[in-house]
Amino acid sequence: MPSDEARRASSLQAADAFGVYVHWPFCLSKCPYCDFNSHVRHAGIDEGRFVRAFSAEIAAMAARVPGRTVATVFLGGGTPSLMQPATVGAILEAIARGWTVAQDVEITLEANPTSVEAERFRGYRTAGVNRVSLGVQALDDAALAQLGRLHTAAEALAAVKLARTVFERYSFDLIYARPNQTPQAWARELARAIDEAAEHLSLYQLTIEPDTPFSTLRAAGKLVIPDDDTARTLYDVTQEICSTRGLPAYEVSNHARRGAQCRHNLIYWRGHEYAGIGPGAHARLDIDGRRYALATERQPEAWLERVETLGHGLVTDEALTREERADEFLLMGLRLAEGIDPERYASIAGRTLDQKRIDFLIEEGMVEIMRNGHLCVTPSGFPVLDAVVADLAA
Ligand SMILES: C[S@@+](CC[C@H](N)C(=O)[O-])C[C@H]1O[C@@H](n2cnc3c(N)ncnc32)[C@H](O)[C@@H]1O
Ligand code: SF4
Repeated sequence: MPSDEARRASSLQAADAFGVYVHWPFCLSKCPYCDFNSHVRHAGIDEGRFVRAFSAEIAAMAARVPGRTVATVFLGGGTPSLMQPATVGAILEAIARGWTVAQDVEITLEANPTSVEAERFRGYRTAGVNRVSLGVQALDDAALAQLGRLHTAAEALAAVKLARTVFERYSFDLIYARPNQTPQAWARELARAIDEAAEHLSLYQLTIEPDTPFSTLRAAGKLVIPDDDTARTLYDVTQEICSTRGLPAYEVSNHARRGAQCRHNLIYWRGHEYAGIGPGAHARLDIDGRRYALATERQPEAWLERVETLGHGLVTDEALTREERADEFLLMGLRLAEGIDPERYASIAGRTLDQKRIDFLIEEGMVEIMRNGHLCVTPSGFPVLDAVVADLAA
């Protein structure tokens, strides 16, 4: 008999692994670095109306791809921890009406670590959530204030502590390469974070996104982020500390103990199938032997009206060409330490990868072939991943 872990791993490798992403598009305030599809609504939100729309969209998508078994659900945002637990419960019930839900389903909810949101944790657990991902971002109050966060480090750590007692699994996010951050200070902060982490950490290098307040401040010379050399040192420090402490990177920004990866995100990176529900959600569905890319209306009120009129919020619904699908497979798969199976690439693309390019990148130390035949990016290749992918896909 295979162990539970082996069974789970094989069900995730299986071509039919299927996940459901649900987007909650609201936040209490907008963080100055963030360009996610999140909106502030001081007038309050009619959660009942959203539940009806989510349920309708789930039913419509289940009609497009019936008979799937849901291996993972991810409630992301925005700030899903602003939802009432009953709202989360109703969404999960709608998913269970549309598809079969696997017995060992992973159900993750993204939560902001304020005390108000932590009060809802037990309600989420009762509703069926078994994993939380907390946006801690920093363990330093001055840095949290600069990031525009509504919580202190102590409050975030209290939410982590509570998450540990309520949920089977939890992870938290930190942002590094922040203004004025030195490698020494980050090493101390990361070590402290790992003391509090259980099995999983997401560590994102600060990106200055266009049209955000941070991008305006930076253009005006009022926000200075670490230069490329310092950012590289910060990245190297991150890899070294996490590996030494048993949390190696399994993806560019994600670290986990063995067998504790986020199974939902693995579905994206391994190029499997997923539904996307709610404003601005994306989906990849296999219909009649073709891979479809779907996306919904981003603006929450326009999405509601669209669903109420049409029964779904889709604004994009198109079959990908083999070339597009193969590029996407490379782009996503090479983010993973486990790399990609070149044979699977060939079956998607209808042609093999260019051996001369692979040989060149191997010589440059950017990629390697693993014992199982997978092609993967090396530690030297990860900081220039986009260039490596562009080279292979050309
Ligand atoms: C979609 S956000 C939602 C999480 C949740 N609302 C929160 O803020 O705690 C997911 C994560 O993306 C990361 N993130 C968002 N914008 C970023 C940026 N510009 N640079 C680096 N990381 C970013 C943050 O760590 C955040 O926790
Ligand atoms: S980082 Fe999180 S809380 Fe801040 S605006 Fe983005 S989604 Fe909202």
